[in-house]
Parts: sequence; structure tokens; C-alpha cells
Amino acid sequence: MCAMVRCFLAIDLPEEIKEVLEGLQKELKRLNEDIRWVRPEGFHLTLKFFGNVEEDRLGRLYEVAEGPVKKTSPFNLTLKEIGFFPERKAPRVIWVGIGGEDLSTLLEFQLNLERAFEKLKIPREKRKFHPHLTLGRVKRISDPKRFLEAARRLKVPEKTFRVTSITFFKSTLRPEGAVYSPLKVISLK
Ligand code: 2AM
Repeated sequence: MCAMVRCFLAIDLPEEIKEVLEGLQKELKRLNEDIRWVRPEGFHLTLKFFGNVEEDRLGRLYEVAEGPVKKTSPFNLTLKEIGFFPERKAPRVIWVGIGGEDLSTLLEFQLNLERAFEKLKIPREKRKFHPHLTLGRVKRISDPKRFLEAARRLKVPEKTFRVTSITFFKSTLRPEGAVYSPLKVISLK
């Protein structure tokens, strides 16, 4: 039987951006709520979550990703404000939004990747793609109103970064949170 690998495709981030996100986490940690924070080395922008994949299918995933990748030149993205999933109820995921002049390039690229993976019978994500950088996942928040107000007040530096490659990551679930390790990096055009 072939081993299964829990994996996803993402944009890894420059060190400088990871440091900005870590700074925001530090501010939010002061509110002392029960949140599982993403390890700073693990910050990323997810393009496609696959879940468990047979190890011997990974090579095909990498090959199929090459199509859209080789049609896409490096592009720039900018950090936006802090946001939450779900939007209107008690927050479960705390994240930093993504925008910038090349946002449309990112959206088109992600859609082309979805279409390419469909050829391997990997179903398209039903939810609309909402690019974000997860800071933490809520276990329990004692005072959601106070938390949301404080988080919304935080100023996110308007930092721009260049995307030059994408990375397939393996996700290993641990009681203290998932650990992400790169499987394969593919450079853009
Ligand atoms: P999230 O940050 O919004 O939770 C690895 O788990 C990455 O894949 C995370 O960035 C996570 O997004 C994303 N992801 C998307 N769908 C997922 C799912 N069904 N289960 C776990 N992670 C998922």
C-alpha cells in the first residue's frame, strides 16, 4: 500500500514578511485568548489544499502545476488588513489579507491551477478563493468583541513582496499544531 501525504500548494513568503506577521501575532497574543498560532516559519499563502494524496501521485501533481506556472511571470503582492473567517460570527481563523496591483494575476493563476488539477480528477474548491495569510486558529475566545476590536485596530504595514515561485508543502499534524515542510519548489516563468 502506498503511503499517504497530507499536502497543499502555497506561496512561501520572504523572511521580512514573516517577521511582520510574527509582529502582529505578538500584539494579538497580548490579548491572552486561546488561539493556536501558526509557527512563523510556517506562514504561507495557500493556493490549493489537497488533503491526503498517495505518495506516488505527487510527481503528477508537480507536472500538472508546471503548465500554469510556466505561463506566469513573477508578480507583486501587498499585505492588507487583518480579517477573520467566518466574517460575521465569532472568529475561527485570524488572517492578514492580500492585495496589490498584481492581485488579478494571483487570482487568474490560482484559477488556472484549479483547472489544471481538475485534469487529475482533483475537484475544484467550492468556496471562492480568498487569498489570505493565516496568523492563528481560534480554540476559544472568552471575549470576542474585545478581541475583534483590538485586532481591527492593529495597523498592518503596507509591505509588498515579489512572488517568484510556488511550493508544495507536506503538512504533519501534531497536537501543538501542524508542521509544514517543503516537498517541491517550482519557479515561475
Ligand atoms: P487556512 O490557513 O485558511 O486554515 C494547510 O492546512 C493550509 O491549507 C492552510 O493554509 C489552510 O488554510 C489550507 N486549507 C484549505 N482547505 C483546508 C482544509 N479543508 N483543511 C485544512 N487546511 C486547509
